Amino acid sequence: MRILVAYATKHGSTTRIAVRIGLALEHEGHTVDVKSVEEIHDLSGYDAFILGSAVYYGHWRREATIFANRHRAELSSHPLWLFSSGPLGTETDEADAADAQLHATPAEFAQLTATLHPRSVHVFFGALDPNDMDFAGRVIRHTPAGKKMLPEGDFIDDNDIVAWAQEISLGLS
Ligand SMILES: Cc1cc2nc3c(=O)[nH]c(=O)nc-3n(C[C@H](O)[C@H](O)[C@H](O)COP(=O)(O)O)c2cc1C
Repeated sequence: MRILVAYATKHGSTTRIAVRIGLALEHEGHTVDVKSVEEIHDLSGYDAFILGSAVYYGHWRREATIFANRHRAELSSHPLWLFSSGPLGTETDEADAADAQLHATPAEFAQLTATLHPRSVHVFFGALDPNDMDFAGRVIRHTPAGKKMLPEGDFIDDNDIVAWAQEISLGLS
């Protein structure tokens, strides 16, 4: 199968997740392209799609939502999987508990699930490097509560990514 893994990132950790999904699918025998949503213009020739985005303040990156809406016809008429990269720490609900604005599951998943009919959606742990953060992030992390809300570290779970990719591959066989 020819599969496109499309992603949106701000600081690069979602790129790592997308690339890892691509490698795992290639390992299962598929032909895979991994591309940022901003460099994709034509979805023809693919048998299946995986679309993912980083989550900020409970939302997918705008370019990912624009991509999903723009290509709704192609995405919804093929096997599709959605993922997001977000929660930091070790507990999935830590971000939700810490601040009402931060949600591990992006607000867009409900609408995207209703319109695109993905086979499944998955939330992956993300990563945060405090030296690579915009002003808003620095303000949040200025206090101990903010640091707890956005803990520093690389929480990307390779096993979780590979297991999900294997599930996708099984779904395509
Ligand atoms: C200012 C800020 C806000 C964030 N908001 C959320 C959030 O609402 N939910 C969540 O799960 N993760 C949140 N995160 C964590 C990021 O989603 C995580 O660092 C992710 O791996 C970033 O992906 P990227 O490197 O591809 O941009 C936030 C991070 C920052 C710096």
